[in-house]
Amino acid sequence: MAEKIALRPALPADAPALAALFRASVEALAQEDYGEAQVAAWAARADDQAAFARKLAGELTIVALIGGEIAGFASLKGADCLDMVYVHPAFARRGVGTVLCAAMEKLAGARKAATLTADVSDCAQGFFAARKYAPQKRNMVFLGDEVLGNTTMTKKLATANENTP
Ligand SMILES: CC(C)(COP(=O)(O)OP(=O)(O)OC[C@H]1O[C@@H](n2cnc3c(N)ncnc32)[C@H](O)[C@@H]1OP(=O)(O)O)[C@@H](O)C(=O)NCCC(=O)NCCS
Repeated sequence: MAEKIALRPALPADAPALAALFRASVEALAQEDYGEAQVAAWAARADDQAAFARKLAGELTIVALIGGEIAGFASLKGADCLDMVYVHPAFARRGVGTVLCAAMEKLAGARKAATLTADVSDCAQGFFAARKYAPQKRNMVFLGDEVLGNTTMTKKLATANENTP
């Protein structure tokens, strides 16, 4: 039987746990696609916990739980930008990213977005391609002395109008 993945809004008190999850996710899941220094620069983005907490609170952030443990989180910026999706390596490939992304697509639709766009790291391209996001353009992200490539990917959302007979 598939395990139960529960969702809830992120709370301010979750910020330290989500910062630690962010670091663990990047360190374990990005190492095949990026070099050591690139991974370190990316993982360090949540080290300023106050700034990270502000970012989480400024977006629509939800967490996914398995057996009461936080397994991943995702955030929606505005109506149509999927800013963050991070799954803890201990829970990878168990459907957590799928549940988080599906929820983000519903929330974007509720905010009347016609498309959902994400700047997708190279390690997540397979995941987003499987969810029917199409690549639009390559980007370079400058983090300190490091440069990381990613790809803007967009999915057309089913709109309320399309569902109405
Ligand atoms: C990308 C990420 C969120 C996926 O989360 P996940 O919970 O492991 O994904 P799921 O289990 O829901 O995967 C669903 C499907 O996506 C595809 N997929 C997931 N990870 C993949 C990978 N690394 N390579 C290729 N396909 C992948 C598969 O088709 C998978 O189905 P399967 O397991 O039955 O083969 C997770 O790997 C992660 O946190 N990565 C590091 C951080 C990151 O890059 N985040 C995105 C920033 S844009």
